[in-house]
Amino acid sequence: MKIAIGSDHGGFELKEVLKKHFTDMIDLGTYNTESCDYPDIAAKMSKEILSGNVDLGILICGTGIGISIAANRYHGIRAAVLYDDFVAEMAKKHNNANVLVFGGRTMKQEDVIKRIDIFLNSEFEGGRHNKRLEKIEEGC
Ligand code: RB5
Repeated sequence: MKIAIGSDHGGFELKEVLKKHFTDMIDLGTYNTESCDYPDIAAKMSKEILSGNVDLGILICGTGIGISIAANRYHGIRAAVLYDDFVAEMAKKHNNANVLVFGGRTMKQEDVIKRIDIFLNSEFEGGRHNKRLEKIEEGC
């Protein structure tokens, strides 16, 4: 499975930690602590996923909020802020998220690593959840 990771300056430190822990992640930037705009990173990630180059994305900003809002504007992106362990499991089982989002200034590094592991070890349940995901794609 190809996993990509991206952050703004608020998530840079956590991105570097995750890259070391989970080797083989494709780094979509940012590449230093200089201030940058999280919608640009969300756009880059969304395009990689929607084109099929990447199977799963990890996005990080200061809180996880701005970058998740930005990513979820792209049809086909299901970005979930994994704010606890139960949510990490449900984000796969029920929502089949394709982008995991974290807050570099709000979450502990060890918690984030644990939640990524929980997500990766869970399976999408399909069934009734498929219909709900289809309704999301229909939009409004
Ligand atoms: C950047 O200062 C900060 O606003 C950003 O990282 C994020 O937290 C936005 O939601």
